[in-house]
Amino acid sequence: MFEILERQDMADGTVVLNEISAPLIAKKAKPGQFVILKANETGERIPLTMADTDPNKGTITIIYQIVGKSTALFKSLQVGERFQDVIGPLGEPTHIEKLGTVVCVGGGTGVAVLHPITRGMKKIGNHVIAIIGARNKDLLILEDKMKTASNELHVCTDDGSYGHHGFVTDVLKDVLEKEAVKLVVAIGPVPMMKFVCSVTKKYKVKTLVSLNPIMVDGTGMCGCCRVSVGGKTRFACIDGPEFNGHEVDFDELMQRLQAYKEQESVAYEKYLHE
Ligand SMILES: Cc1cc2nc3c(=O)[nH]c(=O)nc-3n(C[C@H](O)[C@H](O)[C@H](O)COP(=O)(O)OP(=O)(O)OC[C@H]3O[C@@H](n4cnc5c(N)ncnc54)[C@H](O)[C@@H]3O)c2cc1C
Ligand code: FES
Repeated sequence: MFEILERQDMADGTVVLNEISAPLIAKKAKPGQFVILKANETGERIPLTMADTDPNKGTITIIYQIVGKSTALFKSLQVGERFQDVIGPLGEPTHIEKLGTVVCVGGGTGVAVLHPITRGMKKIGNHVIAIIGARNKDLLILEDKMKTASNELHVCTDDGSYGHHGFVTDVLKDVLEKEAVKLVVAIGPVPMMKFVCSVTKKYKVKTLVSLNPIMVDGTGMCGCCRVSVGGKTRFACIDGPEFNGHEVDFDELMQRLQAYKEQESVAYEKYLHE
């Protein structure tokens, strides 16, 4: 179990795709849910959302950005090697329902998480407008898959090297001016989700975001993943990871994500040196 069957470098080698054998998880998983993986016996527990599942083949697909020690260690695993542990599916699945026009906004590796949700929203009969963005053309992922998964795709790059020159929020504003949008789903870096929510709040359009606080157990016991939503403390691992974006305290989330920055950079430096 947990053998890597396929491996792809994406976005200039800063992002990696792994298709992993995990038949029991593949059978139960739904869009929006995540798994926690360990590379080896002493490895750190790393939460990653499933970008795809194939219950017939018994596989799950994860797409992750290399940001520190553990994701760098994952990157070093080759086809035929195994993850020590993969637990899941964890978290609440996305509530996929027929609403009318739905806009799916993704930034960076958030596009990987957004892909099965976009596909599910279209499959059930919604008109799905997807807006994806990256810093530049080389960092853009899953453009073809998002084109198939949606009815209409807009691509943005911060530096203008491809598609619309600017942020996903520019295109989102245009779409909200023209269309009667029932729901926006936004997944990406925390600042991007925060800005999407400030736009959709003005247009009074319900917005779902997927939060990525630091997690340890992933089962509601340690309290590490707590986030403030609507003035209440919620645990992203069991109550989320998706929440009503208009109620999320994004500034607190950003602050909590910085909590171990120093230790994380020491661990990464040491790993790279070794
Ligand atoms: C529910 C959930 C789903 C996620 N899905 C994806 C995904 O599909 N693709 C993807 O690229 N990333 C995803 N992430 C983020 C991913 O878990 C972190 O990038 C990873 O844990 C970083 O570990 P590291 O050792 O490489 O980096 P580190 O150097 O340890 O940390 C870099 C940054 O990653 C975050 N981080 C560190 N440890 C954890 C932890 N235990 N749990 C959560 N975040 C942590 C912190 O913000 C930290 O500043 C998800 C996070 C959550 C909570
Ligand atoms: S990760 Fe421990 S309570 Fe959510």
